[in-house]
Amino acid sequence: MQTHMDKSIRLVPMDHTVEEKETWPEYVELIVPQRHVKRVKTALEEHKLLNRKKGIGRSRPFVKIVKESFNTLPPDLLDSLDLSVRALIEHFSSSYTIYQPMLLLPRNNFTPCQTSTLSSPGFQPFWARIAARMGVTHIAINAPIPLQGATSDAVPTGVDGTPSENTLRSPINLTPIYGFFGPPPSPQTLESPTAADFDAALWVTHTQNGIHQTWAPLYTMFSRGNIREKTRVLRLPSVIASVAEPAGCTSVDLYAGIGYFVFPYRKAGVSKVLCWEMNPWSIRGLQKGAKMNGWRSQVIDRGQAPSEAPSESADLIVFARSNEFALEDLAETKRAMDLPPVRHVNCGFLPSSNLSWKTAVYMIDGQLGGWIHAHENVGVSDIEERKVQVVTEITGHVKARGLRGEVRCEHVEKVKTYAPGVIHVVFDIWISATSSLAAS
Ligand SMILES: C[S@@+](CC[C@H](N)C(=O)[O-])C[C@H]1O[C@@H](n2cnc3c(N)ncnc32)[C@H](O)[C@@H]1O
Repeated sequence: MQTHMDKSIRLVPMDHTVEEKETWPEYVELIVPQRHVKRVKTALEEHKLLNRKKGIGRSRPFVKIVKESFNTLPPDLLDSLDLSVRALIEHFSSSYTIYQPMLLLPRNNFTPCQTSTLSSPGFQPFWARIAARMGVTHIAINAPIPLQGATSDAVPTGVDGTPSENTLRSPINLTPIYGFFGPPPSPQTLESPTAADFDAALWVTHTQNGIHQTWAPLYTMFSRGNIREKTRVLRLPSVIASVAEPAGCTSVDLYAGIGYFVFPYRKAGVSKVLCWEMNPWSIRGLQKGAKMNGWRSQVIDRGQAPSEAPSESADLIVFARSNEFALEDLAETKRAMDLPPVRHVNCGFLPSSNLSWKTAVYMIDGQLGGWIHAHENVGVSDIEERKVQVVTEITGHVKARGLRGEVRCEHVEKVKTYAPGVIHVVFDIWISATSSLAAS
């Protein structure tokens, strides 16, 4: 994924050491994120590499491409739609995201009315040109599918050409604008997609920390703001310590999705990750992503008869049903193999993961203890209060299980701002080893 913000800066170093017979341009352009400009500038100055004449400039190649593409449109097409290039460009931001092979534009680039117009067939050559210049095959706008006037092939429509009812029920805030994104969301494709549905869908890929993740953007959302937490899981001392213990470590993700946290646990060395997930599109993404990363996954779908027993050779075991059944599934897994102790349980559901805490407490290894990572949306000034509530609630479940270990919040991680005044935090709750006979 590449994200390009408005204020990328062009630094222009010169005076390279020119090797014999090698021709160098007068200067090269170095495009760096805004936050690194000062440091890079200082470093270049120290080494006398900054071209003072060219200096620092803004990089807006994308806007240039869009402008050029608008200018290739037949003027009478724009006139007939009462649009001008100037009006279209006016609010155009140069930030964009590429999840290969898709270019994703921010929602504020066009008004809903302009989005409808621009997704009509007459504009397809315009988008084709932008796609070719940007090295992608699909383009979407990060905004709800417009209710009226969308007639592009890329936008799912009913038989009469108007957006179909199911399309409008799509859970995804994404308007496909160029390229075929797959079968339009319908009750059938959402709940029981066929192999053909999966094959026909566009799957995009994003690599973070060397971990590949893949998803079908028409069916699954992706939040890149969780990178902070993914990176933390990868390096978390408590994970590294559990992995190094003689018995090893199993991690659990009760809301596995496409593997945001499942994959970092596996990459950190956890030998088995048990996953629960209900969305068939996320499960397929999890399977595909695991394969891309070289891990073996097994999906156990109780809806399919006969369902398989958990396999010792799988790195990731995915239970395709609600985590309400997680204790039952864990017991069966323990019967089927010599499972390393469960030391970490990720509860990644917002605005609150509290419905999964009881299950999480009963999953943690009773002899060694372990950590529950409880995700919550909390008011910025309510974090301390919520921390006490989380510990109190989890302590109640620990006591009800008959464990006598200590429960303590080891760390509060502020992941990202969720909304003004609301922050996504993760409470790392440590449940210590216990001497209770009830422990298992
Ligand atoms: C916020 S997303 C988690 C994102 C996830 N970490 C990822 O990698 O995509 C929550 C996920 O939990 C799943 N989910 C919600 N309720 C569930 C339940 N009771 N049991 C299992 N999965 C559930 C949803 O389908 C969704 O994929």
